[in-house]
Amino acid sequence: MKYFVGNWKANKNMQETEKWADDFVKIYKPRKYVTLGVCPPAPFLSYLQRRLTDLEGVFVGAQTISTLESGSYTGEVTAKSLDGTVRFTIVGHSERRKHFNEQDADLAAKVTLAKKYNIEPIYCVRDENDPIPAGVKFVAYEPVAAIGTGQNESLDKVLAMKKKMTLPQNCVFIYGGSVNETNISEYLISDEIDGFLIGKASLDPVQFLAIAGLK
Ligand code: PGA
Repeated sequence: MKYFVGNWKANKNMQETEKWADDFVKIYKPRKYVTLGVCPPAPFLSYLQRRLTDLEGVFVGAQTISTLESGSYTGEVTAKSLDGTVRFTIVGHSERRKHFNEQDADLAAKVTLAKKYNIEPIYCVRDENDPIPAGVKFVAYEPVAAIGTGQNESLDKVLAMKKKMTLPQNCVFIYGGSVNETNISEYLISDEIDGFLIGKASLDPVQFLAIAGLK
C-alpha cells in the first residue's frame, strides 16, 4: 500500500473547499494499493468527510488535535469531537512545534487521545532526535529544510535518515517536504517509503491526484 496524504495547512475558505471537492470527485479513480488522505482546516472536515465518504480509498484527517480530552476549553478541537468524522490526524508537524510551541509531552498526549477515539495518528518527526511515542504506527519524516521550500530531500538522504531513526516495528514510513508531480517518481522506485505528506501540491486536486498516479 502507498499512502498519499494532503495537508492543506491554513489555506482555503468554504467556497474554495467546495470547488476542490467538485474537481476531485470528477477526476478521482480508485486504484488498488493506493490510499489517499486529505487534511483540510478543521472547519471543513465534516463537509469533506460527507462529500468524499463514498469514494473508495479516500479518508479525511485532521491537521492536529487538542492535548485535552473535553470540557471547559473554549475553542479546542478535540479527538472526542472528531471521533466519527476523521480516520486519522497529523500530530507534531514541525509548524505546530515551531509556531505553537508544541512539546514532546503534548504530542504524546495527543497520540493517546487520538487512539482512544479511534483516530490514527500520523506522527511527524524532523530527524532522528524527535522521540516517537508508543503506539504510533505511521511516522512521517519531514526535514524542515524541505518543507515549503521546493527543495525536496533526495531519496538517498531520506533512506539514510530512516536507518538512523528508532522506528516502531512494522511502521508505515512516510516522507514529506516539497513532494510534487515531477519528483515523486524519484521516491516511488523505493519500497522503503510507504507514503508521502504533501503540502502545497495537494491544494490543487489535479496535481494531488497526479502525484498519486490517479489521474
Ligand atoms: P510541502 O509541505 O509539500 O508544501 O513542502 C509538506 C508538509 O508540510 O507536510
